Amino acid sequence: MKKRTMALMMAASFFGAGGCSAENVAAQKVETEPGKILIAYYSWSGNTRFAAEQIQKLTGGTLFEIKPAKAYPSDYSACVDQAKQECRDEFKPELATKVEDFAKYDVIFVGTPNWWSTMAPPVRSFLAGYDFSGKTVIPFVTHGGGGMARCERDMRKVCPKAAFGRGGAFSGGSIRNAGDALNKWVNEVVTIRK
Ligand SMILES: Cc1cc2nc3c(=O)[nH]c(=O)nc-3n(C[C@H](O)[C@H](O)[C@H](O)COP(=O)(O)O)c2cc1C
Repeated sequence: MKKRTMALMMAASFFGAGGCSAENVAAQKVETEPGKILIAYYSWSGNTRFAAEQIQKLTGGTLFEIKPAKAYPSDYSACVDQAKQECRDEFKPELATKVEDFAKYDVIFVGTPNWWSTMAPPVRSFLAGYDFSGKTVIPFVTHGGGGMARCERDMRKVCPKAAFGRGGAFSGGSIRNAGDALNKWVNEVVTIRK
């Protein structure tokens, strides 16, 4: 009896961990039209931009670059140091760009490089800066070997009102040869009505 109660308590805490918020909506394929797709991304050295451009070509959606008001240092070590502190602090830098007519989009691909196992800080600002109620976010990440890490999980935390599609993680170093993998993943997460 004691064992059974404990098992039930464990199951309840597992299934009840996130309540019934949109956070828990199962990753499933969404159907939409090109005019309602936004591909928002931040990229420091071009890999995530490349992935975003491919997703734009595959979906016909609108490309949007998330730019911080103050650019990150172009020196790699300086950037890594600054990013380490900001990622640890969950810092949300001011942004220099704003989406026009955000309300018209219902599916938003959100791209980030994996920085210290999480999203780059400008992407955190982006997700916190708009009303994502009723929208589906589909994360995509480029990385240096660490994969998705905590990127998708942290995006869900910052953006609890959105439903989430299954995120894609792609190696930054081979992104320019990842056309087939990107195509396959896009077809798995979204159906485009023409
Ligand atoms: C500040 C910084 C932190 C990084 N941290 C990680 C990391 O924790 N794990 C990882 O796999 N790659 C890490 N990388 C590598 C990038 O995720 C990878 O090169 C990515 O493709 C870069 O995308 P971008 O060209 O769009 O900026 C880091 C790169 C930078 C500049």
